[in-house]
Amino acid sequence: MNLIERPRRLRRNPTIRALVRETTLSPDDFVYPLFVCEGEGVRREIGSMPGVFNLSIDELIKEVDAARSVGIRSVILFGVPDEKDAVGTQAYAEDGITQQAIRAVKREVKDVLVIADNCLCEYTDHGHCGVIEAGEVLNDPSVELLVRAAITQAEAGADIIAPSNMMDGFVVAIREALDESGFEQIPIMSYAVKYASGFYGPFREAAQSAPQFGDRRGYQMDPANSREAMREAELDYQQGADMLMVKPALPYLDIIRAVRERFDLPIAAYQVSGEYAMIKAAGRLGWIEEERVALEALTSIKRAGADIILTYFARDLANRLS
Ligand code: PBG
Repeated sequence: MNLIERPRRLRRNPTIRALVRETTLSPDDFVYPLFVCEGEGVRREIGSMPGVFNLSIDELIKEVDAARSVGIRSVILFGVPDEKDAVGTQAYAEDGITQQAIRAVKREVKDVLVIADNCLCEYTDHGHCGVIEAGEVLNDPSVELLVRAAITQAEAGADIIAPSNMMDGFVVAIREALDESGFEQIPIMSYAVKYASGFYGPFREAAQSAPQFGDRRGYQMDPANSREAMREAELDYQQGADMLMVKPALPYLDIIRAVRERFDLPIAAYQVSGEYAMIKAAGRLGWIEEERVALEALTSIKRAGADIILTYFARDLANRLS
């Protein structure tokens, strides 16, 4: 028996390290989030998210095509409408910007999975994820509107509906409505565990969806809670979710792991805008190596138990992985 254990034997060179590697990333793990706006020829960079743009539909098609050609097969679309109102009409309008974008991508790009983010905050003038009465975000009336949005998204050709607004009971309401409308084949990727996070800041610039009063703590989860995360995931599981998402990702690896251990559904994790912005910013300052850190963060998210990762790095990193 050797006196010294020598784990370094398996680290001596790249080939042996590759042989014993436990976690690998592939472009198939990634979902690429994209922001679609009105107009033509628009490709407007988000100040706090270098490399991420508001894209009009023609530019969106080019971006999806380019991502597809490097191996990214799934995108999630967020609409940024010109017109916002108190009840988020454009979220469920048949010709809303998101519905138009879904139709266009499904028509123009082959073999790409289009996931529709299903929420109201990008479409309401007050920036909250539901309808408001006396300063409160109402639950059931908001769910009704989300259901309408899900149906118009499905009619437009969305492959997966991803409800993200954290109202109670949205999964079962959307499931029933999809089934009644003949969309029983369309899966629901539920943002089951979504924290009230400061890491969403840059997204709100991209989607122009910052709440105009108050914050989202009355519906998104308290970052301090993990047992409550299990309860949220359990409810969505019982209500018929096909996939469960945890969001943000890197600050919540413990939650990803716990959800992974408890549920056998595919688990998605969203590396959100603030996670992206921090890596980009420090990279630009020369304080960290952007690509290396991005890959390390994504590997950690997968190692924690995520099967699917929503990441703004998807297109840039796909080449490195295939
Ligand atoms: C919509 C939604 C948000 C994000 C995804 N869907 C914003 C929010 O809840 O404020 C954030 C994603 C990101 O930060 O990258 N409700």
